Amino acid sequence: MDKFYPLLKQYNSDNAKDVLPEWTKIYSESTPPVYWNILKNILNNYPKSSSVFEIGSGAGDLLALIMSLGFENVTGIEQDLLLTEVANKKLEHFFKRQDTVVHGKYPISISKPNILIQINCVYFENIFSKEEYLFQLKSFYQNANPDYYLLEVIDSSFTSESKAFPNFVRLSEKNIQDTFTGKTIDSFKTYEYPYNTSSKRLYLIS
Ligand SMILES: C[S@@+](CC[C@H](N)C(=O)[O-])C[C@H]1O[C@@H](n2cnc3c(N)ncnc32)[C@H](O)[C@@H]1O
Repeated sequence: MDKFYPLLKQYNSDNAKDVLPEWTKIYSESTPPVYWNILKNILNNYPKSSSVFEIGSGAGDLLALIMSLGFENVTGIEQDLLLTEVANKKLEHFFKRQDTVVHGKYPISISKPNILIQINCVYFENIFSKEEYLFQLKSFYQNANPDYYLLEVIDSSFTSESKAFPNFVRLSEKNIQDTFTGKTIDSFKTYEYPYNTSSKRLYLIS
């Protein structure tokens, strides 16, 4: 278990706010989310000098965990102003770093990161088909042109009714391979329905 996680959990419990979305509470639970354990093992293979950019940083918890591994060249973007402020306050508290998370909506112009992360971030505003959704994922990737893209998506094995995750965001390994042709693709199961509320898979695209 991470030495840092209990500190993060305690900070989140001490600073809990009713206005924060329900999903922020996953980082106040006794153990970190499954995707963190998988992500941590992957990130530990890369030099700590690697630059990391996170799409949809939320309340900054994933960035905090990444920084706790020793990565310093870390930034993120979050479209919600309150969450951006909560994230930056948290990262300043733990790492004395200001303005780690930019308030805005990705894609914006950024310098090429070594590692682009989009985890627990399934958004499909103005998107109504799988083709459009895959096109968005590819354009997010191309905008950053990273060495490694760590992308978690809803898996096509999830077939239950869900308003939160329409069919077109449920992707198979073939969907990812066909979208990122010529790339090396590894994947890891993160969540599995019905033990979890959906089934998800984390892809490492390089
Ligand atoms: C479910 S949260 C997860 C946060 C974080 N990745 C984590 O695991 O704790 C996803 C966040 O992505 C943000 N988001 C979604 N699409 C975005 C975009 N295009 N640009 C910036 N933020 C985005 C949402 O506002 C939300 O706060």
